[in-house]
Amino acid sequence: MPGDGVGPEVTREALRVLAAAGERFGFALAHEEFPVGGSAIDALGAPLPESVKTACLASDAVLLGAVGGPAWDALQGDLRPEAGLLALRKALGAYANLRPVAVPDFLAGASPLRREVVAGTDMMIVRELTGGIYFSSPKGPVEGTGGKEARNTMRYSEAEIARIAQVAFTWARRRRGRVTSVDKANVLEVSQLWREVVTRVRETDYPDVELEHLYIDNAAMQIVRRPSDFDVVVTANLFGDILSDLAATLPGSLGLLPSASVGGATGLFEPVHGSAPDIAGQGKANPSAAILSAAMMLEQWGEADAARAIRRAVNETLAEGARTADMREPGCRVVSTGEMGARVASRVRQETGREQPVEAAA
Ligand code: IPM
Ligand code: MN
Repeated sequence: MPGDGVGPEVTREALRVLAAAGERFGFALAHEEFPVGGSAIDALGAPLPESVKTACLASDAVLLGAVGGPAWDALQGDLRPEAGLLALRKALGAYANLRPVAVPDFLAGASPLRREVVAGTDMMIVRELTGGIYFSSPKGPVEGTGGKEARNTMRYSEAEIARIAQVAFTWARRRRGRVTSVDKANVLEVSQLWREVVTRVRETDYPDVELEHLYIDNAAMQIVRRPSDFDVVVTANLFGDILSDLAATLPGSLGLLPSASVGGATGLFEPVHGSAPDIAGQGKANPSAAILSAAMMLEQWGEADAARAIRRAVNETLAEGARTADMREPGCRVVSTGEMGARVASRVRQETGREQPVEAAA
């Protein structure tokens, strides 16, 4: 689902790299294309038309570009492009949004933060994706006494908290064994329940995993001050949305961050970045996040060698100095979206697929 803005450009490159990976690692992918968000509003009158939703549910995975743009900004509520994306996440049951953020050595200088601060950063943000303030009722406009009023509700059940906590603890076991749970338990009752349930899940099922709790305001500061201390960060929908853009400054560009949304039968794979209407259609967008999202999709399907090969190809392409404009550094050559994708694809075709001694993490 290419979506809006730069979405079509970056998903085109992800498909190109997937085709190369299929050739190299011996699998074939069949895909169909559907509109979502603004493009679906224009073509079919709704941000997630019924027929599109049905097609998504019948797929093994959904690869999505981005949604939204100024053309649809005047629309409200369920008619907005973003509402289509939220409805899709909900329909797929994709409650766990995995957003890995790593700063390989060769990128530490590209960060707006000092090299010694970001060096060694390798965290996984686990964002709850189908509940919380994005979805709960009551919501919407209400009759006010002093002019217009509107409301949203932040609400979580024990079951919703427990299942996202389990995802976080499971990832921690595969990684460095640490979970930071982020909430606002000093103010919000919903966060007090969050903290209680996360603590209990650890005690009952994951006593070997280290757990700390941080308030969201403090977490934002600590992620900027000492990013390399974090392993798995688990948090509610809205907090995770904010923290993941914040964390994107660590490697220097939002254009690098992939995501996987899992939990249902069909996974959803999309870059963390938005539709960037200001540069849409100009070949300036960084396709890395979309390409790395496709790698997460292959990983999910057990094609671990192909996923690793794609990650390595992206890293090597960036390391040799081919950069889209968002990652321009002295001594690097600025390339277009298409050239970046073509370079990554050609490296994937040459990959051995075996673990190599120095694998930069991305
Ligand atoms: C994201 C985006 C979306 C979100 C928008 C486009 C609805 O910002 O995936 O982070 O808020 O979840
Ligand atoms: Mn966001």
